[in-house]
Amino acid sequence: MNINLMKSPKVGNSLLVVFTHSDKIKSSETPFGDQFEISSSKEFLKEMKRTGELSGKKGEMTLMHSFLIENFTFNSKHISQKLQPSRLLFVGLGNSNNVNSELLREVGANIVKKTSSLSLSEFSIIIESSEVKDNSECISSLTEGLMLGNYSFDEFKTDKEDSKTITVELLIDETDDIHSEALNKSKITSTASIKARNLVNRPPNIVNPEYLKDFSVDLANQNEKLGIEIFDKNAITELGMRAYLGVAQGSVAEPYGIKLMHNGDPSNKDNNLWLIGKGITFDSGGLSLKPSFGMIEMKSDMSGGAAVITAMEAISKLNPKINVIGLCLATENMPDGGAQRVGDIVKSMSGKTIEIENTDAEGRLTLADAVEYAKQNGAKKIIDVATLTGAMVTALGHGLIGAFGNNDELLNALKESGEITGEKIWFMPLDETSKKQNRSKVADIKNTGGRAAGSVTAAHFIGEFVGDTPWVHLDIAGTAMSASSKGWIPQGATGFPCRTLIETVLKLQS
Ligand code: BES
Ligand code: MN
Ligand code: ZN
Repeated sequence: MNINLMKSPKVGNSLLVVFTHSDKIKSSETPFGDQFEISSSKEFLKEMKRTGELSGKKGEMTLMHSFLIENFTFNSKHISQKLQPSRLLFVGLGNSNNVNSELLREVGANIVKKTSSLSLSEFSIIIESSEVKDNSECISSLTEGLMLGNYSFDEFKTDKEDSKTITVELLIDETDDIHSEALNKSKITSTASIKARNLVNRPPNIVNPEYLKDFSVDLANQNEKLGIEIFDKNAITELGMRAYLGVAQGSVAEPYGIKLMHNGDPSNKDNNLWLIGKGITFDSGGLSLKPSFGMIEMKSDMSGGAAVITAMEAISKLNPKINVIGLCLATENMPDGGAQRVGDIVKSMSGKTIEIENTDAEGRLTLADAVEYAKQNGAKKIIDVATLTGAMVTALGHGLIGAFGNNDELLNALKESGEITGEKIWFMPLDETSKKQNRSKVADIKNTGGRAAGSVTAAHFIGEFVGDTPWVHLDIAGTAMSASSKGWIPQGATGFPCRTLIETVLKLQS
């Protein structure tokens, strides 16, 4: 998709999007007050207002063909010249006082769905008709809505039609550097989120640990400033990541540790943030095999890793002044003859011993070693992202990411970033009562804490390896995938929380 900022339309004469507001339409004689004028069509517009076809209410879309109107010209107070689009699409935003970025993101998605259904690949939008005070915010949200809302996953359909590249012109009378920066940033973050969705949606026979490794190497090759280090099985063994290796040992697929680096503040190594993503490319449960009806979702068990890997590319492009290290310890969780048993005790990289009570609680095992590696390499702040527990879905459902942590500043940075991106976050507790459920009779800790507060005990398990380092754990089990499509969130992989990670990094830079 091409999205450009323009003072006057070049290609978009086939359709012009104009935003409408319920309060303005209600209070004015003509449908739009002085917002704009369509010569010789006042009666026509009045009639549409009277019949309720043009009310400005949220979600309303009214299409008008200009060939029906004699001497059609469009005079906008926002655009200095007269426009002659062949169609006008009035898009209702509801009350002009309540327009926010989430609404504009949704509207952006709905516009592109509408134009696609009309087989239009070129159109323009009058930014200033949104009546939002901050045009940059409007540009960002619309861009995200258009790009994220236009997403569909059809790579494996053999009978699909070639889709035309869509060109959108965002019309704005006065443009400033901040506007093009907002556009550029939204393109980068939305592209990253789309790449994350693709990684998750692609099937698990394609996206195995080696694929994630190759994908990351390609990213590093394409982005000069993005550093990369890969750990193969020998290196993983050398590092002593035995909790991670225990998960990998039941699969014929080789595990790969992926480390991506953005050196945004080379002279100040302590100005760093680690992003750790769970990278189980397929979670069968291992010997504690999952029931088959739930297993098909488990190609998405690398969603955390996908969000981290793709966020790292965006971070390197946006170049914030902070060192960011992305880490994904990728493996499958499979039950072959060499698989980890229930009752095994493994010695993690930290030296702590772990009793394996359930081989399906594999994510926390890989994360324990990832966190230890981060700490040994000077981590000052850690955010981990994981499709960790079914209990998270039970607790918060599909609309909220659960956040656990030991540091209010980091927790708040993520929460605020989630408000901006629309990937909403809810704080979860780490109470002492639940913590005790991870106690093992035979080892330092066990990898399950029983049914009660399952997402809390899982977070506590990771916390045990984190210690005092400022840390947030995001459990995205409920939000990585969506059962249906709504606005900018598609059916299938959502790309969560890729954009929130990027936003948080930008917020934390010095
Ligand atoms: N990957 C799953 C969690 C999950 C469940 C993600 C549903 C997305 C949707 C995780 O590895 C897992 O199997 N967790 C177990 C833990 C239990 C054995 C303590 C779970 O939640 O049942
Ligand atoms: Mn599992
Ligand atoms: Zn899992």
